[in-house]
Amino acid sequence: MNQPKRYLVTSALPYANGLKHIGHLAGAYIPADIYVRYLKAQQRDVVFVCGSDEHGTAIPIQAMKEGTTAQAIIDKYHPIIEQNFKDLGIEFDIYHRTSSPLHHETAQEFFTNLNNAGALEIKETEQYFDEATNTFLADRFIKGTCPNCNYDSAFGDQCEKCGKSLSPEELFNPVSTLSGNSPIKKATKHWYLPLNKHEDFLKEWVLTEHKNDWRANVVGQVKSWVDGGLQPRAVTRDLDWGVKVPLTVDGQQSTVDGKVLYVWFDAPIGYISATKQWALNNNKDWKPYWYDKDTSLVHFIGKDNIVFHAIIFPVMLKLNGNILPSNVPSNEFMNLEGDKMSTSRGWSIEMDDYINHWIKPENGGGQMADALRYYLTAIAPETKDSEFTWKGFHQSYKSELSDILGNFVNRSFVLMHKLCAGKVPFFHNDIIDDDDKQLIQEIHQTKITVENLLEEFKFREALFNVIDLARKGNQYLQKKEPWKKPLTVDGQQLTENQKLVDNCIHLSLQLTANLAILINPFLPFTAKKMLGMMKVVDKMLEWQNAGSVTLLKAGYSLRAPEILFRKIEEEEISKQVEKLKKKSTVNSQQSTEKQNKTKLENEKQESRNNIKSTIEFDDFAKIDLRIGTIIQAEKVEKADKLLKLEVDLGFETRTIVSGIAMHYKPEEIIGKQVTVVCNLAPRKMRGIESNGMILMAEDKSGKLHFINSSEMIDSGSGVS
Ligand code: MF3
Ligand code: ZN
Repeated sequence: MNQPKRYLVTSALPYANGLKHIGHLAGAYIPADIYVRYLKAQQRDVVFVCGSDEHGTAIPIQAMKEGTTAQAIIDKYHPIIEQNFKDLGIEFDIYHRTSSPLHHETAQEFFTNLNNAGALEIKETEQYFDEATNTFLADRFIKGTCPNCNYDSAFGDQCEKCGKSLSPEELFNPVSTLSGNSPIKKATKHWYLPLNKHEDFLKEWVLTEHKNDWRANVVGQVKSWVDGGLQPRAVTRDLDWGVKVPLTVDGQQSTVDGKVLYVWFDAPIGYISATKQWALNNNKDWKPYWYDKDTSLVHFIGKDNIVFHAIIFPVMLKLNGNILPSNVPSNEFMNLEGDKMSTSRGWSIEMDDYINHWIKPENGGGQMADALRYYLTAIAPETKDSEFTWKGFHQSYKSELSDILGNFVNRSFVLMHKLCAGKVPFFHNDIIDDDDKQLIQEIHQTKITVENLLEEFKFREALFNVIDLARKGNQYLQKKEPWKKPLTVDGQQLTENQKLVDNCIHLSLQLTANLAILINPFLPFTAKKMLGMMKVVDKMLEWQNAGSVTLLKAGYSLRAPEILFRKIEEEEISKQVEKLKKKSTVNSQQSTEKQNKTKLENEKQESRNNIKSTIEFDDFAKIDLRIGTIIQAEKVEKADKLLKLEVDLGFETRTIVSGIAMHYKPEEIIGKQVTVVCNLAPRKMRGIESNGMILMAEDKSGKLHFINSSEMIDSGSGVS
């Protein structure tokens, strides 16, 4: 394979609308960071970009929830998320923002290029509109029942339950997320990207060219979209929050009122603007990273971002004359303790939560960042969904990190101090044996294997191979048992034994140095600590050094070992499980309260909506209301609902037919007083002439109630 001249690696830009959880981390950030650290250790030219996605309806919705402005939301979450990544050792070359002027400019220029080239279409359609808030209901501004799984709170862009991409028109019972109202339809004009025109390109590029070197889940999703027939996709929205749609009028730059670029149009362009900002900061040229065919562009993403990075953005890039991604590694989902992870349901471990407990210096600092990086990589959902459990975390920490890697490094150092005077002993070639030779061969081979796996984005397997090498180191020590060889007898040196011990410790230390290099992309904090123990500089971590057994010079004195992975007690783990359960209970109580409140609000709103249109006082005054007393009642034949009443109005007795038979028996109501509309035109019902109407109240369940006071009032009294 030809090695590209440079790499541009991207991680999906997280929405700056809240904290991000470890599922996100496992999907798009840790694998990308591992890949980049590996490339950098190879001295390759690589830029790693990320940043906040600050547009779309997700941001103003969070602002509503927190009772603040969209700007305040992004200003709150952007720095927290940025710091969370740093604390976990995710080292971007730039963490940019799509709210920056440079991004707005870049996105507008991109749109204008496509528009001027005639690559976009303008169409007028009818879209949902909320009259109460005067807003078109795009994306998450509208909710309803998912046509795919029946979930009743699916958003207009996606169902969060089953993951299906949706458009507002597909929802059943759509309501506005802003007001709770049922929307009306209103005409509006938008720009569309005609994806249907690019089907052949996608078939050729993804389904043929990358059929084998891209992950099956990615190729599979593209195939099912293409097989389903691609539709033109709107790239603008009627919203206030976002990048204004640019327009050139008589050669003058301006923008379209009330219209912004669709968030999924502007956000991936964020990778370009981030690259530009990185270049400005570092006095570099950004263009080769986006135009030179000798650049490898790699997008790390989560499963729900596949269509945007493998279909839509590539079409945009092609139309804009940019290079296309060489790979789009996407993971499947990671579940948590038997259930889908979800921040809104409280069933998640936020990066911030993890950091606040584990990464405190007194709880382990960087080694615990590595512990999370380790477990998330070891269980990465590379080919199918996987599951995070605290028990699994503890188990892998103890039996792999601590008992294999930590233990091997520790033993090598302790033995060196005890048996070799704290120095790297010489290697005596004259007594090399088969075990030594085999270990040397394993070290050499593991470097090649790990390298190949990393080039193919198989992070889980690559990590497994590194740990396996440490396991082999332990087996080697166990077999040689240098601690059992007597080095002196009666004050006399046993030179032969010392030579055997020297060789064993020498190779163990060379293996330790190799492990530092190989583990560095995965566990950077641990690698740094190992360098410190070996008193060597960062340069030793260069990838080309791996595979060699001459990294540490004989005679060089090394430091005392440090504990790489502290002990974690069962109790500390069970506290985490309790914390998770508690968080989700609190959250579900809060959300039930909220749901009840919304239901009440909706009912009130409905009552308000049902108020009949306003009448003038004169109209009201035309109604003649009198108190009447029911003196006789009987069922109307063949009419379940009707009773025939005789009502005494004082000045006369009227026959009135009333629809209350389902609620009252005739004998129950004799003597009851009612308010009668006595100037209503007579109406025939079931052959009986009804002369007026009695007023009853109807409750929510539809039951009718008498409303007159229990005081007896003279029949015929006026009501006004
Ligand atoms: N904000 C999106 C999400 O969290 C990802 C955007 S990736 C980009 O799903 F390509 F658009 F930047
Ligand atoms: Zn669904």
